[in-house]
Parts: sequence; structure tokens; C-alpha cells
Amino acid sequence: TWISAFFFIFFFASVSPGAESSCSKGCDLALGSYYVWPGSNLSFITQQVRSQILTDENDIISYNKDQTISRDYVQSTTRINIPFPCDCLEDGYLGHMFRYEINRGDTYKTIAETYYSNLTTVELLRKFNGDTIPASGTLNVAVNCSCGNSEVSKLYGLFITWPLRPEDTLESIASNEKLDAGLLQRYNPGVNFSQGSGLVYIPGKDQNGIYVPMESSSRAGLSGGVIAGISIGVVAGLLLLAASIYFGYFRKKMAETKLISQEFQEFTVEEEKGYGGPTGITVDKSVEFSYEELATATNNFSLANKIGQGGFGAVYYAELRGEKAAIKKMDMQATREFLAELKVLTNVHHLNLVRLIGYCTENSLFLVYEYIDNGNLSQHLRGTGRDPLPWSTRVQIALDSARGLEYIHEHTVPVYIHRDIKSANILIDNSFHGKVADFGLTKLAEVGNSSLPTGHLVGTFGYMPPEYAQYGDVSPKVDVYAFGVVLFELISAKEAIVKTTQSDADSKGLVAMFHGVLNQPAPTEDLRKLVDPRLGDDYPIDSVLKMAQLAKACTQENPQLRPTMRSIVVALMTLHSSTADDWDVGALYNNPNLMNLMSGR
Ligand SMILES: Nc1ncnc2c1ncn2[C@@H]1O[C@H](COP(=O)(O)OP(=O)(O)OP(=O)(O)O)[C@@H](O)[C@H]1O
Ligand SMILES: *[C@@H]1O[C@H](CO)[C@@H](O)[C@H](O)[C@H]1NC(C)=O
Ligand SMILES: *[C@@H]1O[C@H](CO)[C@@H](O)[C@H](O)[C@H]1NC(C)=O
Ligand SMILES: *[C@@H]1O[C@H](CO)[C@@H](O)[C@H](O)[C@H]1NC(C)=O
Ligand SMILES: [Mg+2]
Repeated sequence: TWISAFFFIFFFASVSPGAESSCSKGCDLALGSYYVWPGSNLSFITQQVRSQILTDENDIISYNKDQTISRDYVQSTTRINIPFPCDCLEDGYLGHMFRYEINRGDTYKTIAETYYSNLTTVELLRKFNGDTIPASGTLNVAVNCSCGNSEVSKLYGLFITWPLRPEDTLESIASNEKLDAGLLQRYNPGVNFSQGSGLVYIPGKDQNGIYVPMESSSRAGLSGGVIAGISIGVVAGLLLLAASIYFGYFRKKMAETKLISQEFQEFTVEEEKGYGGPTGITVDKSVEFSYEELATATNNFSLANKIGQGGFGAVYYAELRGEKAAIKKMDMQATREFLAELKVLTNVHHLNLVRLIGYCTENSLFLVYEYIDNGNLSQHLRGTGRDPLPWSTRVQIALDSARGLEYIHEHTVPVYIHRDIKSANILIDNSFHGKVADFGLTKLAEVGNSSLPTGHLVGTFGYMPPEYAQYGDVSPKVDVYAFGVVLFELISAKEAIVKTTQSDADSKGLVAMFHGVLNQPAPTEDLRKLVDPRLGDDYPIDSVLKMAQLAKACTQENPQLRPTMRSIVVALMTLHSSTADDWDVGALYNNPNLMNLMSGR
């Protein structure tokens, strides 16, 4: 980067920028504002504006997350953004040359004004293809673009090429795009936004919904004579230098973070070996399944395949592409925001999170998850026909779920708050490790169900902290509270809302029950009375006490005093290493694979 920075200075010093129209370099991305005319559809639009960065409908969808848009539905008479590369064309203008396959009866006018929605013009088609349209073959379709203008602002480096329509005014665009009208005018000097046709350039947001600053190396927008060229060159060079120092530092930080996460991964991978290989369909991209495929995999969603029913819909067991899967049939339709959100969710991977493999939007909305073999924590604690979980396993499950939660709180982009942590949403695999299920669902439910007022409470009674139940305050501490309740459940095997023998009015929360005991000066004896009777005497009371105290800290009334998931993980790791008791060692000696692993074979 240092060398290139100096190169840059020389480059600027020796090449005269000349008139504004002569670019030397484009930028990776620009957006075209495509007015969806009645009768068009996403597959047709995709076909017209295909490029190296737009190969299918999903590429359009990902830039229009705030729109009602999906593969088979796009609202006509609205504008959608089309991503395309912004190159420096041969004539010295910034633009992209799309290719159009001529059909019988096509005219330049229909191509420009309809198929390309006025992103190009008849004049441009003439300029690059001759005065009359050829009978067949491909046309060069130039669409202008901008990479920004450092003289206006360096904060915007991604621009929408915006064909003006009769209803547009400077004010309407500014208010729609939530941008300052003065700024828009400065980017389009002398242009009357109410002129009803012609192009303007408007700052645009990327796939993550953020404005992209100008690339410091972009030549776009620079103008002036040689002298100005030199001084700007020097400034740009210095900027680049500063940027390279900054990014050097940044990259180092990134590397550090990566190291930590790699360490963590290696750590978990080691563990994984210990308890059997990963399950589920291994794919990198989110998978869209057809309804037919899901129906076949579930015997037509037969009752025999139904595993359970939750707050969002019914869950079915499926054998899908040779793997076990759990399919959730949601009681709602997919909206565009929902689909965008889903894409993000399918990319979140962690050993302690139940993986979302894909989805289906035909007939209804279906979510496809990896199947976890061994039921949920609630069933293990209170169900019949299962052996009681030994104490060390309970600590393990607590640590596993804490890790899953810590991951969504701190390491995903965007960061998630689960909001429905409870023992039914902690699934247990064959080696008795815990995995957090349904994360992201509450957010999905919100973006997916427009009939819900925003701030609608999702969650399960007994696990909701007071600030959330009363005021709807959402923070990661909502999950911390619910996690504390789960810890109390692990100790006592009691439900979050303990039903007393009399009326419901007497029912007392598990939290209040534990707090009552833990607030005593010497809680140990009374704590023993709360411990799951199925554990018998097979538990180290100091470990139980520590977990109870951790749970108490998690369930404090003041959310700010509750620990973060990160420190909870650390606390549980300590507890876990001191609880690696005879039971674990026994399992180790009885398992030949583990013995091989231990002896390094
Ligand atoms: N990926 C999965 N693998 C195996 N079983 C699952 C899976 N996902 C859910 N289940 C089971 O299906 C049942 C219903 O799950 P669901 O998530 O719909 O309801 P819930 O967890 O009880 O409530 P909520 O809707 O609040 O999450 C639960 O008993 C759960 O254990
Ligand atoms: C999509 O739009 C084009 C152009 O209007 C039309 O020819 C085509 O039939 C449409 N396809 C669908 C599936 O509606
Ligand atoms: C393109 O511009 C022409 C002329 O201004 C107009 O009639 C037509 O409706 C526009 N097309 C679209 C898709 O906006
Ligand atoms: C668009 O680009 C063409 C050349 O590719 C140029 O002639 C025209 O002036 C440009 N229009 C605008 C509005 O920038
Ligand atoms: Mg669930």
C-alpha cells in the first residue's frame, strides 16, 4: 500500500485530469434506480440488467431489503435498486455497458424507455450501436454512473443513477431517501429535479443498508488543471498513506480477532471430535427448497412426522437429501424483509446454535433446520422415560448454551438478541451437548408480521425480565435473565413458573423461589431442598451453589447489574473444569475412539 500510495502521487502529478468527463478509473459498484413498470417482473428485469455482479434475482433482492420484493413478486410503479459495476468507458465517461439481445420488433425507444426504464437513452443507444437498430445480434446499452465527488463530500462513494420521472422533485427525493436537499443539488449542479426526465445521481446504501464512503483511491469527481491535479494528487496520496496506516492497524486488529476466533474454533472442533461428527446438510449458501421436496421429506407433513408445536408453528421431522432435518411450518407469510433476514440467519454458524439450513416460500413459509437427535432440555429435566441428567452434563449444557448465546450477542453481524431463551429452546444432541434453537426467530416474526405493532412482546412467560415485560425494553440482558432462569431449571428441574397445588394465583416464579433462599446468610441447606431430587446425592454442593449464585446475578432486577454472556461463559468454564468428575473420566475410558484421540492416534 505504501508503494501504491507513492505511485498515486506520481500518477496524479503526471496526468492532467482534464475535463470532468474523462475518467481514468471506475468503482466496484453503482446502483440504478429501476422504475418497475406494470407488466414487468423480477426475472425479466434481471435478464436486462445482468452483469458480473448481478447474476440472479437474489442479487437484486439483497439491495432492496426495505422493499416488498421476492423472486416472484415485485411491486410495480415503485423503484428498485439494481447493482452494477461502474466502469470508465472508452469515451471517458463513467458507465456500464450492458448487453441486450435484440428481439423482433424492438426499437431503441422501447429498449431505453421500457426495458431499461430510462436508465439509458435513445441517443446513447445510437451512439454505441449506430443510428438504426440492427435486425439481430446484441446491443451495447450504456448506463451512466457516478463514484462520488470528493469536492462535495467524501462520505458518499456509492451512487444511484436516478432517471427523473414527472412526479419527482428535489424535495420528494430528499425526503424519500432521507438526504439533505442541498447535498443532492450539489451532487447535481444546475439540474432541475422537477424536469420530469434526465438523470441525477443520489447517494445510495449498500447491501448492509449503510452509505459507503468514497474509496480514497477513486479518481471520480476530481477536476481542475494540472496544478490542481498535483495538489489533489498529493493530498490524495497523503490520505492514502494515512488510510494505509489506518488499515494496516485495522488489519492487524482483524488478524488478532481472527486468531481468537480460530483458537476458539479449534477448541470447539476438538470437542466436536469427542462427541461425534457434525450433523446436518453441509452447504455454504442458504438453500431454497421446493414445497414438493419438503412434502416428500415429511410424508406430506403427516402427523406421524410432527415433532411438536410452538409459538410460531408446527415442527416436522424430515429426511431431506439423505440427512435428518426439522422443518418448521410458520404461521405467517414471508415478507421481503423476512427473506432478507433469513439470508443473514442461514449464514450464522456455531457449534452451539441449531443451524438454519434453508427455507421454502411456496404455499406457506417453511424453515429448514438441522435435526438435533436427543430432544430438548425441558424434556430431559421433566419428561418421563429419560434418565436424569448427571450434574456434570448439566454444567456442560449450561456452558454450551452460554457459548451459543455469547456468539449471537457479540460475534454476529448484525448482533442478535434471542428473546425466547427457555429450556424448550435448548436442544440436546446425542453426546449431551446443548444447542440453542430458534435464535433470530423473534426478529423474523417482527419483520415478517406487519400486523404486530413494533415492540410487540415475544417471549415466554416466566423467562421475561421485568423491564421487558413491563416496558418492552430490549437488550442482550433480556437473554441473560432468561438464561439465569434456565440455570435455575438445571439445578431444580422445576418449571420457570412453579405451579403450586392450589390455584394459579399462588403460583410462584422460580426466580423468586431461588432468590428467597440465596438471600439467606447461609443458604446451603435450603438450597439442597431445591436441587432436583432425581440427582439424589450425586452432586457437588459447592458447584451447585456457584451456579445458583451465577443464576441469581443473571436474574437481578436491574439489567445493568446482570453479567454479560461473555463473563457468564468464563464463569461456567471455570465451573466446568472443576466439575470434570468421575463420570466424565469413566466415559473416556469406555470410549475407544476417545482413547485413540487421547493417545494421539
Ligand atoms: N432442529 C430441531 N431438531 C429436533 N427437534 C426440534 C428442532 N427444532 C424444534 N424441535 C422440537 O420441536 C418442538 C417444537 O419446537 P418449537 O420451537 O416450534 O416450539 P417451542 O420451542 O416449544 O416454542 P417456541 O415457539 O417458543 O420456540 C420442540 O419440542 C422442539 O424440541
Ligand atoms: C415477465 O415479464 C415479461 C415482460 O413483460 C413477460 O414477457 C414475461 O412473460 C413475464 N414473465 C412472467 C413469469 O410473468
Ligand atoms: C421513460 O421516459 C418516457 C418519456 O419521458 C416515459 O414516457 C416513460 O414512461 C418512462 N419510462 C419509465 C419506465 O419510467
Ligand atoms: C452519460 O454518458 C454518456 C457517454 O457514455 C455521455 O455522453 C453523457 O453526457 C452522460 N450523461 C450524463 C448525464 O452524465
Ligand atoms: Mg423452539
